[in-house]
Amino acid sequence: MKIGILTSGGDAPGINATIRGVGKTAINHYGMQVIGIQNGFSGILHRDIIELTDASLSGILNMGGTILGTAREKVFRKMINSPDEADREQIKNAYHELGLDCLVCIGGNGTQRTTWMLSELGLNVIGIPKTIDNDVYGTDITFGFDTAVNIASEAIDRLHSTASSHRRVMVIELMGHHAGWITLYAGMAAGADIIILPELGYNMKVVVDKIRKRMELGKAYSIVAVAEGVELPTNERPAAYFAREIQELTGFETRETVLGYIQRGGSPSPYDRNLGTLLGGHAAELIHQKKFGRMVAKLGNDISDVPLAEVGGKLRLVTADNDLVVQGKRMGISFGTW
Ligand code: F6P
Repeated sequence: MKIGILTSGGDAPGINATIRGVGKTAINHYGMQVIGIQNGFSGILHRDIIELTDASLSGILNMGGTILGTAREKVFRKMINSPDEADREQIKNAYHELGLDCLVCIGGNGTQRTTWMLSELGLNVIGIPKTIDNDVYGTDITFGFDTAVNIASEAIDRLHSTASSHRRVMVIELMGHHAGWITLYAGMAAGADIIILPELGYNMKVVVDKIRKRMELGKAYSIVAVAEGVELPTNERPAAYFAREIQELTGFETRETVLGYIQRGGSPSPYDRNLGTLLGGHAAELIHQKKFGRMVAKLGNDISDVPLAEVGGKLRLVTADNDLVVQGKRMGISFGTW
């Protein structure tokens, strides 16, 4: 069998471990031929490929980013949805010309949706969920998330000293476009006092009252962790908006930090390396069994798989009954509306 692997959407720590997991299992255990498709789905159309061998897959386990390159794929998605049948034929022809028996697509929600659409076109595909945001529906966790939470937690840890020395309010903005998982996990792990998530919303009066009350109780500083995807009444970044409002409304000196792409870069954590390795191995196994049209997943303690049809287009979001939210509230941490 001949398989292709591509990565699409934003990069995340653990992609290379996953490519290695798929590739080495396919080559060494199942005797398959493996090619890498470069720069996302458009690499199929441009025949932008490299041969992946056991040797070329060595030495990449601990590397950040993706050795295949990646891209956001609006043009390719348009071609699948095009009113012109010729666009879809072009995709199918490219897949068949490459001699593929299966295409493995590593990516987030958007990628899984595109992968499902390819499956609907009659192509053999397998999806592998990836994103630091941890918001892919159908799996309990995505690789990249653990590394991002480690980085974000360390960043919050480091804010405590300046916050305490200067008696300031520190606002830190963390990644998560639709989902607040990184902000929830890092905020709780690093002792943020107020955690603002897109899913739960906020009331500025509640936020400000909480900070004032902390000062009254003799707590000289406060840490506010806010997710980048929180809806705002202005065009400011969430960190800038919250810092400005808090300083104006409380009079307390407030500073902002936007952690940004630091959360997505660098070497993956051991957890993410092993998760990518296991998901990659399972993808190769599904291909061997000719079980196509599925996304590999971690469900509970098991490495498993779900139909792509059930995943496409849905998001996995934080809910108010999440254990960390419930426990945080019980300890007096504010989630912006309480
Ligand atoms: O999905 C991961 C993520 O890092 C989000 O948290 C963020 O909103 C987005 O990607 C940024 O994407 P880009 O790389 O296109 O700027």
